[in-house]
Amino acid sequence: MTTPLHSGGPLVVLHEIHVTLGSAAGPVNILRGISFEVGAGETVSIVGPSGSGKSTLLMVLGGLERPSAGRVEIGGDDLGRLGEDGLARLRRARIGIVFQSFHLIPTMTALENVAIPLELGARRDAFEAAAEGLAAVGLAHRLTHYPGQLSGGEQQRVALARALAAAPRLLMLDEPLGALDRALRERLVTELRALFVRLGLTSLFVTHDHDEAFALADRLVVMHEGRIEQVGTPVDVWQRPANAFVARFLGWNVTHAFADGVVAVRADGLELVEVADARVTGTVTARTFRREHFLLDVDLEGVEREHVQAEVPLDHVRVPDVGAVVGVRLVPGAAVPLP
Ligand SMILES: Nc1ncnc2c1ncn2[C@@H]1O[C@H](COP(=O)(O)OP(=O)(O)OP(=O)(O)O)[C@@H](O)[C@H]1O
Ligand SMILES: [Mg+2]
Repeated sequence: MTTPLHSGGPLVVLHEIHVTLGSAAGPVNILRGISFEVGAGETVSIVGPSGSGKSTLLMVLGGLERPSAGRVEIGGDDLGRLGEDGLARLRRARIGIVFQSFHLIPTMTALENVAIPLELGARRDAFEAAAEGLAAVGLAHRLTHYPGQLSGGEQQRVALARALAAAPRLLMLDEPLGALDRALRERLVTELRALFVRLGLTSLFVTHDHDEAFALADRLVVMHEGRIEQVGTPVDVWQRPANAFVARFLGWNVTHAFADGVVAVRADGLELVEVADARVTGTVTARTFRREHFLLDVDLEGVEREHVQAEVPLDHVRVPDVGAVVGVRLVPGAAVPLP
């Protein structure tokens, strides 16, 4: 079916990738020296805020954007040495890409959108495989609908089924679950994880949602302004954010009010105490109900513009209101020193 892709070593190698594009305001450095590797069978998530270069990186990996400098290898093939034909062949034979916009053909039903590319690839069981793929993403009841008759989330899942049905060795997904509601997203994340493992698929997926990345990925690549801030397992990244950017991206407080030097501390690592007993006090600026607890936003006093978030259990004697002055204390052992 597909050509063997792997002969030991990492499946994907990115070495010092730079992408510089021209714009009216002069050249823009979109990727600035990206290097990492992906092992066969690994699921790697590329996370980062909007505009950090995630989609551009996928375009480079898919051979759709030529880097200004650096080397990309997929299964030992150096993409820079392949002509357009070679790249197209590599993509057809081994790589599946699900773009941020779904690229469905509007005049074909969901089933045809998935089956026709398989048929063009001479798959004899194209329609069965397509129906199976659509069932796997929860769309067994939408086979004969046209894209215009499907919701955004349903269209996204058709695109996902189309990529999966082609049984690529390397699957790349750009915000594959972005258009889905929370419950559906959580269910699909669990199912995708099982599917990836069962197929032994190597996959790279882009998201700006770190919860999704934690649930689905073996490793995370955290990007910011075209650079990598941290590479690590979900546990590594969550327990030891490498710097203030990563900590803030994960929703941690970054503060120097409680210790010498800057530390990262999660909202559950700060607790409220009586003002009289507190070394650090502040004013509550927002109070948000977060199911298991209340999340308080607090402007700290005496610390220039420092703002932290603290969790307060629902059974707390009296959850302070906006405007209340509170004492804030660091839970022992909760702070992670930052460089
Ligand atoms: N053709 C282009 N010319 C100039 N700048 C571009 C071009 N394409 C993308 N950019 C810029 O490059 C940066 C990275 O874009 P990219 O689409 O890779 O971000 P992203 O991380 O995928 O963001 P999002 O989460 O919003 O999808 C953005 O600031 C974008 O405006
Ligand atoms: Mg993008």
